Amino acid sequence: MTETDYRALDARYYMPAFGRERMLVKGEGSRVWDDQGNEFIDCVAGIAVCSTGHCHPHVVEAICRQARQLIHVSNLYYVPGQAELAKRLVDLSGLYKAFFSNSGAEANEGAIKLARLATGRDRFVAFKNGFHGRTMASLAVTHKPAIREPFLPLEPQCDFVGYGDLEALKGAVTRSTAGVFVEPIQGEAGVIIPPNEFFRGVRDICDDTGALMIVDEVQTGMGRTGTWLAIEQTGVAPDLVSLAKGIASGFPMGAILAREGLEFTRSQHGSTFAGGPLACAAAHATIDVIGEVLPQVAAKGERFRAALAAHNPRVRGLMVGIPVGEACAAVTAACAAEGVLVNCAADGNLRLVPPLVITDDEIDRVCDVLNRALAG
Ligand SMILES: Cc1ncc(COP(=O)(O)O)c(C=O)c1O
Repeated sequence: MTETDYRALDARYYMPAFGRERMLVKGEGSRVWDDQGNEFIDCVAGIAVCSTGHCHPHVVEAICRQARQLIHVSNLYYVPGQAELAKRLVDLSGLYKAFFSNSGAEANEGAIKLARLATGRDRFVAFKNGFHGRTMASLAVTHKPAIREPFLPLEPQCDFVGYGDLEALKGAVTRSTAGVFVEPIQGEAGVIIPPNEFFRGVRDICDDTGALMIVDEVQTGMGRTGTWLAIEQTGVAPDLVSLAKGIASGFPMGAILAREGLEFTRSQHGSTFAGGPLACAAAHATIDVIGEVLPQVAAKGERFRAALAAHNPRVRGLMVGIPVGEACAAVTAACAAEGVLVNCAADGNLRLVPPLVITDDEIDRVCDVLNRALAG
């Protein structure tokens, strides 16, 4: 079936919630191919999901091996690989316990529930232009008016302050605040990177008021910025962290990690699928691969920064934002025409979140194409 046929089928039978372009049918490493056989270097990577690249043999093998043995078992039983995965995430993050989910939004739902339980409070504070998901509670702490306003009123109550504005945060966080949701880098907003002092300030305000500091690492976590968690680089210890995207190479999975003293007890939370055997197998293999490439991520980011210096890129590891304004759509189209996939985040910011396994040659090729597209 060609893309044209598929477009018609999709238009008739699938709800039109996404703006879609081409049809990708195959992937290997940092490369993907469309149904016409055109090859692209993929700097979208499922939006920061395919960190190990497409179809990494170690991940494929782990999923297939587990699928032959046991695909699903209820959380009423011990799940093979689950506690070992929780231990690995605890060890790499410095937090204390984990709980699995099936997505980033669902991880944030869990964090909201846990913060309410732990504090006995029901209000939240989050940041303008922040993104935490599209389920009702994660949407309630998401700022973007276009996606939240059609669904008002939302629960829990959330106040929004400017990202980086500690004075406004101090005014907004009270003894009724259960938690402050913060991204270490705002990804959907276009890769916005505040100074480390901001996070120390958030921590202090949370400590002064008893609110939990909830760090959303759905996009920045699992090695994306050059360390397992981006918050590590600030020296600040959060109370709760949410993860998803890069955790299992595209197998749906999310997690919350909590400091000691924060946990669900029996029946307070649960999920049929979350933390199942296949997801855990995919995540274990993903962590193996990321562990190998993690030491090179910062240098790869610097290679992007140097090659794109003329365009004022914002770079932290393999998270790259370039302000291009209204040209964003034209630039993504020009890049695609030359075999490079990038996408537009908010406010005319081009975002690149390639696989962490991207090679130096591929980075050079991407930057050549981008420099030409940005000059045009
Ligand atoms: C920072 C952040 N949090 C939460 C989410 C929601 O994750 P999911 O789409 O897996 O529900 C996203 C997705 O883009 C995200 O970037």
